[in-house]
Amino acid sequence: MERPRSENPVLEAIYSRRSVRDYTAEPVAKELIYEIIQAGTWAPSGLNNQPWRFVIVQDPEKREALAQLTRYGEIIRRAPVVIAVFVDKEAMYHEVKDHQAMGACLQNMLLAAHALGLGAVWLGEILKNADLVRETLALPANLELMAVVALGHPKHRNQRSSRKPLKEVILKEYW
Ligand SMILES: Cc1cc2nc3c(=O)[nH]c(=O)nc-3n(C[C@H](O)[C@H](O)[C@H](O)COP(=O)(O)O)c2cc1C
Repeated sequence: MERPRSENPVLEAIYSRRSVRDYTAEPVAKELIYEIIQAGTWAPSGLNNQPWRFVIVQDPEKREALAQLTRYGEIIRRAPVVIAVFVDKEAMYHEVKDHQAMGACLQNMLLAAHALGLGAVWLGEILKNADLVRETLALPANLELMAVVALGHPKHRNQRSSRKPLKEVILKEYW
């Protein structure tokens, strides 16, 4: 299905956000990175426990070390900055609910990047090497990798995506 359009700015941001995997060489300003992380922290979480933790990686050597841990390494090499997003197991109270909160946090980050004119993609394939990511970033065992967000100024806006029509995903309607 073609993407919907809306005059409502929040809905339009949701519908127009795409995963962006090609970036210009222009660095991302620090304030924008902090704003994106701040938006992540304004996601809802069970008991407002805010279990998210972040590591900003701009350093090319560290980025290369991360790139080698996923088959999507080229995206990490192209991105001027990536943010590794962790859940703090010591802050967790309920496995499912805390992971749901982390998903909300990540989506907020993607939408914030989009709203700021940046492009981002949620990288999950790297989770197969979660322990090595933690070692690369010198972090303790209580931090479990949830995703790496690659971030930059979009090289183009040609990204397309599609969704199943509502009639395929709404199972029943009890009006
Ligand atoms: C849990 C999760 C893991 C993902 N992992 C990757 C990944 O490793 N590499 C990648 O290029 N995109 C990854 N994506 C992005 C999806 O491919 C993308 O969101 C999907 O194709 C829909 O496209 P859109 O975001 O442009 O709407 C991931 C997305 C999610 C939510």
